[in-house]
Amino acid sequence: MLHAGSTSVTVVDARSSRTTAAIALDERYAAHNYSPLPVVAASAEGAWITDVDGHRYLDCLAAYSAVNFGHRNPVIIAAAHHQLDAVTLVSRAFHSDRLGPFCEALARLCGKDMVLPMNSGAEAVESAIKVARKWGADVKGVPAGRANIIVARNNFHGRTTTIISFSDDETARGGFGPFTPGFRAVPFGDAQAMAAAIDEHTVAVLLEPIQGEAGIIVPPADFLPRVRRLCTDNNVLMIADEIQSGLARTGRTFACDHWGVVPDVYLLGKALGGGVVPLSAVVADRDVLGVLHPGEHGSTFGGNPLAAAIGSTVIGILETGEYQSRSTELGTHLHTRLAGVPGVTAVRGMGLWAGVDIDARFGTGKQVSLRLAERGVLVKDTHGHTLRFAPPLVITRDEIDWAVDRFADAMASGT
Ligand SMILES: Cc1ncc(COP(=O)(O)O)c(C=O)c1O
Repeated sequence: MLHAGSTSVTVVDARSSRTTAAIALDERYAAHNYSPLPVVAASAEGAWITDVDGHRYLDCLAAYSAVNFGHRNPVIIAAAHHQLDAVTLVSRAFHSDRLGPFCEALARLCGKDMVLPMNSGAEAVESAIKVARKWGADVKGVPAGRANIIVARNNFHGRTTTIISFSDDETARGGFGPFTPGFRAVPFGDAQAMAAAIDEHTVAVLLEPIQGEAGIIVPPADFLPRVRRLCTDNNVLMIADEIQSGLARTGRTFACDHWGVVPDVYLLGKALGGGVVPLSAVVADRDVLGVLHPGEHGSTFGGNPLAAAIGSTVIGILETGEYQSRSTELGTHLHTRLAGVPGVTAVRGMGLWAGVDIDARFGTGKQVSLRLAERGVLVKDTHGHTLRFAPPLVITRDEIDWAVDRFADAMASGT
């Protein structure tokens, strides 16, 4: 069994019949819209996943940052159990005693007035686009059907039809048209291009403060403050998609905090559901979210009591600041160690979030992640030669060292 602290590198390469059978069943019946590593999780705790054969893996992906507080975080699981024994779903046709406290706590965490609860991240983005257009029509006075939204090139905001309409990823777009109009893309980090793209019909700028799927791209230091000023000066909503970057991942509650920038609208998801349920949210002031009236937007599951109870618990955890501090301190260690691995050409990111470029001679990102999985560490490639390290924030310094040692071995074995 693999465990942190062992010095020799164990390589798990023979797939058992159980693993093979589980993968075959997935491939037979689950749509092939992902290309997973050949690891079949059976249980998980903290930063570790155990497969159907009892092999343990150090999780350095954290479900794309949905498991920031660790697998089956005991405080979150206790809150979920408690709520399972009370009420789980009533729809928004009725009130629940969980929704108000959750929205109040999340609004407070964000320094805003109101919350629109949804489920997936893509749904939060879609909802924000609708809110921005409605705000444009009702408040800014943009003529019907003329609103535009500025986005960044190489963005990733999800995979629904409207969202892929402003993606540059041809794999995500090919064959899925016709697309939704009303978006203009400018290079990420180029405030001048953004200024040139804004006109009197611009209702919003939609950005990831740090681009995640693009390879953990941190913008120039003056970019987000300049975007903030441009939005204020032009009466345009600044929408920060913090679905992956937010909730302690970068060492602050929101990535925008690193630049002292407060957007008009926060989009949150992933870790908000505590690694238990899908829970996302659009958070803004009343003059923005107040444009929605009954019947104009909705979701049967959005803000359900189970999700709201878990979300409230997650906010309580964030209010302690413990995970933000862990991410800052351990993130520095992770970045320093990764930069020292032979074959690594660049390390980007903040906190426990690192995009690692590798020299092509050591293999593709996918090949290295497969070799790393055989050594008991789970990461995912983002692009051809970039890997993403985003472990649950409960990871320890020793476990980081253990993972990076195995990464160095996986790199060396490819030359
Ligand atoms: C920045 C960002 N926005 C939106 C999404 C979409 O979230 P979901 O997969 O929950 O729809 C993601 C997912 O990776 C993301 O990283």
